[in-house]
Amino acid sequence: MIIAIDGPAAAGKGTLARRLAAEFDYAYLDTGSLYRAVGLGVLRAGGKPDDDVAAAAVSLDLDPALLGDPALREERTGDAASKVAAMPEVRSNLMEFQRNFSIHPPGSKQGAVLDGRDIGTVVCPDADLKLYVTAGAEVRARRRFLELQQRDPATKYEQILADVEARDARDTGRADAPLKPAEDALLLDTTELAIDAVFLRAVDLVKERL
Ligand code: C5P
Repeated sequence: MIIAIDGPAAAGKGTLARRLAAEFDYAYLDTGSLYRAVGLGVLRAGGKPDDDVAAAAVSLDLDPALLGDPALREERTGDAASKVAAMPEVRSNLMEFQRNFSIHPPGSKQGAVLDGRDIGTVVCPDADLKLYVTAGAEVRARRRFLELQQRDPATKYEQILADVEARDARDTGRADAPLKPAEDALLLDTTELAIDAVFLRAVDLVKERL
């Protein structure tokens, strides 16, 4: 069972993916963390995230330690991630790991849940279930703001909204693997729907596929 969950930043897809994986004892891959690790690797080396030679080199030999780095979740890392994610060479360097994870989930699990931007469209076009989780930009920015404010009280909502909108524009506007729902994806809008309701709906959909 391969479950593909795509959608824009802070729509709730990570929470949904993690809960589904726990519910069915499937392996979970947050593919955004791979792009974040590449962005962070470039920043750590003193480079700029729009330097495609530097980003390609980092993605070719990705240091696993970056995936556990606390700075991975910072807003500037997300911003760098969406810049390196527009580079075809970076995307192709990360592809095999993601496909392999979906086909041979670690721990001999019976299924895999992957979340990202292009899982249903490019990485796993034959996934058994494809969900596209979305919400209005202001709702997503508010959620991200409340989360980041706990770590840094100086966080400004307007700045987070601007970051979310810039990231949406880059992710949907790029030529290679742009963010969009797969034709056979089911749309789940979390603007009004609580994550618990979305989770229950998704559980039913997985059970139907099983
Ligand atoms: O999901 P997350 O916010 O961690 O993703 C960070 C960035 O990585 C996204 O803004 C997007 O540009 C990129 N990404 C991608 N394809 C994926 C997952 C993430 O392009 N499958």
